[in-house]
Order: sequence, then C-alpha cells, then structure tokens
Amino acid sequence: MSKVQVKNWNDFCPQQLFLYGTYKEDGTPNFGLFCWFSYIWTTEDEYGGDGLGVMACIGGEKLTKDLIRKTGVFSANLVTEEILPLADYYGSVEGRKSDDKMRFRPTIEKGVILDVPTIAESPVSMELQVIKEIHLGNGDDVFLCKIKGETMREDLTNKDIPFIERYKSVKQVLAGGEQRYVSADGRDLGAWGEPKKSL
Ligand SMILES: Cc1cc2nc3c(=O)[nH]c(=O)nc-3n(C[C@H](O)[C@H](O)[C@H](O)COP(=O)(O)O)c2cc1C
Repeated sequence: MSKVQVKNWNDFCPQQLFLYGTYKEDGTPNFGLFCWFSYIWTTEDEYGGDGLGVMACIGGEKLTKDLIRKTGVFSANLVTEEILPLADYYGSVEGRKSDDKMRFRPTIEKGVILDVPTIAESPVSMELQVIKEIHLGNGDDVFLCKIKGETMREDLTNKDIPFIERYKSVKQVLAGGEQRYVSADGRDLGAWGEPKKSL
C-alpha cells in the first residue's frame, strides 16, 4: 500500500487523556481535560530532574494554566471510560468564565506528596511539580515537570496478575482522530462534547 501526504496531525497516533487538577486561591479544586501530554527523562542537574518526568502543552490562557503558574504544581489523573462524561464536561467548560464549573465532581482527594487535588475514581494520579516553562508564542506553553508522587489502584500493582490483564482493566480513553474519543481496545466512545450529555 502506498502512502499519501496528509495534513500534519496525530489521528492514528493518539494521546491518552488526563484531567489536570489544581487548587484555586480559595482552596477549591478545578479540573480541565488535556491530551498534549507525554514523558521526558530528566537526569541533567540543570533541569532539577530525577528520572521520569512529563511534558504538558497548554494552549492559550485558561484557568488551569493560571493556577499552575501560581502554585507550580498540579495533578494528572488518567481518564477512563467510567469518568469520560465528567472529563468531556471539564474539557468544554472554561474555568475562567464559569463560576460553577465544579458543580459536577468526582470523589476528590488530596495528593499524598503535593498540595494538589486528585481523583479517586482515576486509576492513576500523578503529582507534578513544574521545573521549566517554555513559551511557544501566541500564549501556547509547555510545562516540563517532575513526578513528585504517584498513586495507582492497588490491584494494578499485583504482579501475580499478568500485565496485559491489569492493563485491560484500566479502560483508558484516547483522544482519537477527527475529534472522537476512542477506547484503548479500539471502540468508538463518541465525539467530543457527546459523553457529557449523560451527566
Ligand atoms: C479531548 C480534549 C483534549 C484537550 N486537550 C487539551 C490540551 O492538551 N491542551 C490544552 O491547552 N487544552 C486542551 N483541551 C481544552 C481544555 O480542556 C479546556 O480549555 C478547558 O476549559 C480547560 O479547563 P479550564 O478552563 O478550567 O482551565 C482539550 C479539550 C478536549 C475536549
């Protein structure tokens, strides 16, 4: 099969989705939905890194970015099929413009290491500390972060269960192509903006 040149995009190389959690000045939590997220390895002293870290690209000005800049920390909670309606909602309501964005809530816990809100229903939560912010222009920015703490659903740590079985039980959601949510095993989970209608 020959290949054709296409618009530069990641339709068939999709990203996993995370809910970034931050605390507002009044101590209440805010969550936003994000997919431009991947890993970095930081052993260089100048970056203050110590192994696995993450890079998070936040486009434009938004409440999540305001709060990350203010506090220097945030959580990244893996999105699963169970919490997709909530995640879809958090991805389409702007925290800066909506005072009651958080009227729909998961079970919110406090980070074990950092002062960040985490989501109990999410099987993996990372607690992230920003080590460097890179300005890309037009208000788009990349945050390089250390993972200061991570919590995981207990059964996912049970190595008596084959990895692939534990992996399948997570049911993570990918930001697939053409603005659709896709399951890790290739099922269509709806267009962006659809899952939140069930809330
Ligand atoms: C599927 C999906 C993925 C998204 N990924 C990102 C992302 O990686 N970076 C970003 O800046 N915004 C992303 N957004 C948009 C934010 O979720 C949106 O701006 C939201 O309002 C952020 O919450 P906040 O306004 O409370 O900060 C995404 C939205 C959707 C629906």
